[in-house]
Amino acid sequence: MTDYRLVYYSANRLNGTAEQKEADIDTILARSRRNNDSVGVTGALTFSDGYFAQVLEGPQGAVEVTFERIQQDGRHSDVHLLEFVPIADRTFSNWSMAYVGKAVEGSKLAGLGATTGFDPAKISGQQLFERLRDLLLAEQAVA
Ligand SMILES: Cc1cc2nc3c(=O)[nH]c(=O)nc-3n(C[C@H](O)[C@H](O)[C@H](O)COP(=O)(O)O)c2cc1C
Repeated sequence: MTDYRLVYYSANRLNGTAEQKEADIDTILARSRRNNDSVGVTGALTFSDGYFAQVLEGPQGAVEVTFERIQQDGRHSDVHLLEFVPIADRTFSNWSMAYVGKAVEGSKLAGLGATTGFDPAKISGQQLFERLRDLLLAEQAVA
């Protein structure tokens, strides 16, 4: 069965201290991993003060249903779908939901938008996907 890749970004609506945001993201990740595991979805999530960006991979229906639910979530808003395409191979097959936030904070966050003037609206889905993949690989290399 053909897998699909969905890429979106959204406006962060989490507030509170850095510690609270971290705890909120931990909660989101725990739930995501449990749900994604049960429907065969894999992917990666990143976070900055301003936005979330996420890649979902898996069977078309499972990705669609997951994305529908994600869009209803009040912890973010202005969800922008960038890409939904069939793929030959998964990139994040080992992760029910990888979190690449740690590496994206600070200076490396600037790198996410370096070629686009740091405007997520100008990043293509393909670029965002490649950036998340590369950051995750870089994180693993130093882990
Ligand atoms: C930025 C963001 C990313 C999310 N990613 C996922 C995800 O990959 N999978 C998932 O099931 N839920 C994800 N969620 C959570 C869903 O919006 C929703 O709260 C959750 O799926 C509800 O699960 P439940 O019905 O088991 O309580 C995400 C939420 C946010 C704010």
